[in-house]
Amino acid sequence: MEKFIIEGCHKLEGEVNISGSKNSSLPIIAASIMGEGKSILHNVPDLKDVQTMIKILNFLGAKTKFENNTLEIDPSGIYQFTAPYEFVSTMRGSICLLGPLLAKYKKARFSMPGGCVIGPRPIDLHIKGLKKLGVEIENEDGYIVGKVDKLKGNKIFLGGNFGPSVLATANILCAATLAEGETIIEFASCEPEIVDLANFLKKMGAKIYGEGSHLIKVEGVKNLKGTEYTIIPDRIEAGTYILAGYITKSRIRVNGVITNHLLALFDKLEEEGLEISYGDDYVETIPKDKWKAVEITTLPFPGFPTDLQAQMMSFLTLAEGVSLITEKVFPERFIHVGELNRLGADITLDGSKAIIKGVKSLKGAKVMASDLRASAALVLAGLAAEGITEISRIYHLDRGYEKFEHKLNALGAKIKRVKEGV
Ligand code: UD1
Repeated sequence: MEKFIIEGCHKLEGEVNISGSKNSSLPIIAASIMGEGKSILHNVPDLKDVQTMIKILNFLGAKTKFENNTLEIDPSGIYQFTAPYEFVSTMRGSICLLGPLLAKYKKARFSMPGGCVIGPRPIDLHIKGLKKLGVEIENEDGYIVGKVDKLKGNKIFLGGNFGPSVLATANILCAATLAEGETIIEFASCEPEIVDLANFLKKMGAKIYGEGSHLIKVEGVKNLKGTEYTIIPDRIEAGTYILAGYITKSRIRVNGVITNHLLALFDKLEEEGLEISYGDDYVETIPKDKWKAVEITTLPFPGFPTDLQAQMMSFLTLAEGVSLITEKVFPERFIHVGELNRLGADITLDGSKAIIKGVKSLKGAKVMASDLRASAALVLAGLAAEGITEISRIYHLDRGYEKFEHKLNALGAKIKRVKEGV
């Protein structure tokens, strides 16, 4: 295993380019197996999660080639329909293969994804939606086994106790494209990654209307063709670099962003008293020595993203006053709190709320990364902390940030990746 050693308090400067979106790539790669021919995807980030998805596709029998962020997928050789535990346990996002497998091959066997450090992650909405389309689903030895003769369009309400589900929307959307007749998905996710998936499916020949809203209509088609497509930029990676600029009180330019995807973040930064300069596809951080505490509630898009909650919490540890973060998407997603406190933060938890009392400075310490975004939050805190911060178990970061330390070091950070135990 590897760890990061971060020498804090260095100013950043210069420009960073944002990679393609992880959360768009996974469902789009999965959807490509529904095409009659080869698909070519551009701007695919070279990440552990993407590599895991490619491994699953290869295991199923697809042929893939991944070079310079372009991924070619030829699904014609697919002969297996099982996603085994070894893969699903390392990446819950692989669940987005369920809809495409059922739509194209009429059967799927999927290892039941368990809970994870950000809390329990049920799949009841995925199952409810697929059943509404006619899929029979059973639970056998820890596997969900789905089969269907003919998918039939239906009206589906996809909301759960925590609102809509991104990957359940992706699964039902994919399955509905090849179902007979019309499907209405009510309380669908509005996330940009769902719009990206819909755009890809439309290029394959699907008929989809209303993506980006809570009501998506799909008219089923007989088949889909392989196509060429470019993945959108990763809004969470962009948000992380923007916060890296502000927490180090630095002026940096973040390129290749769709700024309309980040307005909830900008709104909070402005409330904190910060100035942001941005165009359609770039952001420049305008440094300030002090910022104000705020209240934030994470919500599905276009609300403040849960995937930026931990990074924003790092930033608020140094705000003037007391901030409050309420986590409404994954109410237990606070594993980073203890680690941030090791760095000198003053955060207490009350159920799904974190109360963050601003401190004057953070001090380097040894901390442990626990999940992808929590790890990014620790890196941000380490960049701002006095002295040396050591972050162990950084493999989480490799799941979701392409060349993270290289991009930060190119901006002037001092981060070393070393083997654990050194
Ligand atoms: C996706 C993202 C993840 C992000 C999350 C919320 C990918 C690969 N991952 O995950 O980075 O944090 O959206 O924006 O795109 N829920 C149910 N029943 C279900 C499914 C979900 O109750 O069947 C609940 C979840 O426990 C959670 C909420 O719904 O409380 C939202 O989860 P969901 O949108 O499904 O997250 P993912 O799609 O797994």
